[in-house]
Amino acid sequence: MSDIQKAAGIIQEGGLVAFPTETVYGLGADALNPYAVAAIFEAKNRPTFDPLIVHVADIRQAEILVHRFPEKALKLIEKFWPGPLTIVLPKSSLVPDIVTSSLPNVAIRVPNHPMALELIRESGRPIAAPSANPFGQVSPTTAEHVRKSLGNKVNMVLDGGPCQVGVESTIISFVEKEPVLLRPGGLSLEEIEFIIGKVLVFKGSSDKPMAPGQLLQHYSPRTPLRLIPTGEIPATQGKSGWLGLQNPPSGFAVVEVLSQKGDLKEAAANFFAAMRRLDEKNLDLILAQPVPDQGLGRAINDRLYRASYKPQK
Ligand code: TXA
Ligand code: MG
Repeated sequence: MSDIQKAAGIIQEGGLVAFPTETVYGLGADALNPYAVAAIFEAKNRPTFDPLIVHVADIRQAEILVHRFPEKALKLIEKFWPGPLTIVLPKSSLVPDIVTSSLPNVAIRVPNHPMALELIRESGRPIAAPSANPFGQVSPTTAEHVRKSLGNKVNMVLDGGPCQVGVESTIISFVEKEPVLLRPGGLSLEEIEFIIGKVLVFKGSSDKPMAPGQLLQHYSPRTPLRLIPTGEIPATQGKSGWLGLQNPPSGFAVVEVLSQKGDLKEAAANFFAAMRRLDEKNLDLILAQPVPDQGLGRAINDRLYRASYKPQK
């Protein structure tokens, strides 16, 4: 029996399988089995108000989860599935409430990774999967990251090597009349707008989000992370680490450069692993410099802002 067949059996029996996608590793369970989905929330210590993305192998498997696909959604699907694009639509009654945190809408995507697609096909189930990390922490881009943080809480970890994209999928909602960007991610807004025209950008982030998953504090390392305002000279403190697109000025104990040649795709692929390495160095502070706010840079900056956020006491 192959690893994927074994993993598919675990999904069918209501167990948890961590699996690779092109964006980050997911923590998967049978999306149509509410007990299996409950185990995801438990393993991640994730609040049940934060709904999950359902992964399918193709649009046919998505059709039963929604009522219909609006024309613009179909255009994006045709162009970008499989890929780092999640579509939110009113759900059919087949989708258990626990998957969507009782929202009337479901988030769906087709991941662009052969192992993920094989797992979905072999199990014959749509697979609900958040990123495979404890809630609020840094997302995993290797199987090793998953084993370290959730290893004892999952039935199996499939290893498909490091994730090629490195940041989570871009989420577009088609629930309202006009499409809305809920989360910038691995597919750039520019590419999306090139196909369907203007997309509204959701700006409702707060401590108590109306739309879940928009928490201000997220993707957090244990080490304090501070953003360097553009144009400011970074003030190091004790043993400081640098997280930036290119080289820092001197004075840093540990340096993580995301892309020496300034390539935002390469930077996204390196981002979460770089944050983890810094977090393991016992630093007093991580100083991070926002990257250009375009293409995948928007997704990187979004994660940096949330990683740096500290609630006012
Ligand atoms: O790339 C990805 O999207 C990865 C891989 C594993 O596919 N998954 C991922 O899942 O990032 P997660 O759970 O870490 O983030 C999912 C986000 C959350 O912010 C959640 O609030 C939002 O999607 N979401 C899920 N269902 C939703 C819904 N029905 N309406 C609005 N937002 C939703
Ligand atoms: Mg996540």
